[in-house]
Amino acid sequence: MPTRNGTKTAIAAATAVQPNLGLSEKTQTGVIKLLNARLADTTVLYQKTRNYHWNIKGPRFQPLHAFFESHYDQLEEAIDEIAERIVQLGGVAAGTLIEFVKLSSIKEEPGVVPSENAMIANLLADHETVIRQLRKDIATTDDLGDVGTNDFLTGLIQDHEKMAWMLRAFLQS
Ligand SMILES: [Fe+2]
Repeated sequence: MPTRNGTKTAIAAATAVQPNLGLSEKTQTGVIKLLNARLADTTVLYQKTRNYHWNIKGPRFQPLHAFFESHYDQLEEAIDEIAERIVQLGGVAAGTLIEFVKLSSIKEEPGVVPSENAMIANLLADHETVIRQLRKDIATTDDLGDVGTNDFLTGLIQDHEKMAWMLRAFLQS
């Protein structure tokens, strides 16, 4: 068991290795906050996509079942990258379902199994919500001079735009 003094020393040591990246504390705090919000959005969207992968029924079961899997695989990678970026900036990544639901702007519908087209339309609307939010975040990180996060978010918005395009194409088929 660490002594009270030992615990204090450990905390001091942890503080001493905070990143020194040329970003103000205010910038780091703001960027960590917006990244945790996008982490929550992406996690809820991941679970929603997975839910639809499991529960889809209808004539396009096979292509949509596989299509949703390809999207939740991409979202899973994004989740890990967002969380690790938060820690790289000296923050703590949200890691509990309670936090994700609280922080996310993506809404779930417990107990509802939408039709094929409604699933696609819901996911499209959710990706577009994330895209619009990322665009605001990119403007914020630009103002704050956090070029690393700015570039990272630009990559994320491109991935969501591509997934949104694919969902839109399914709705038009
Ligand atoms: Fe599966």
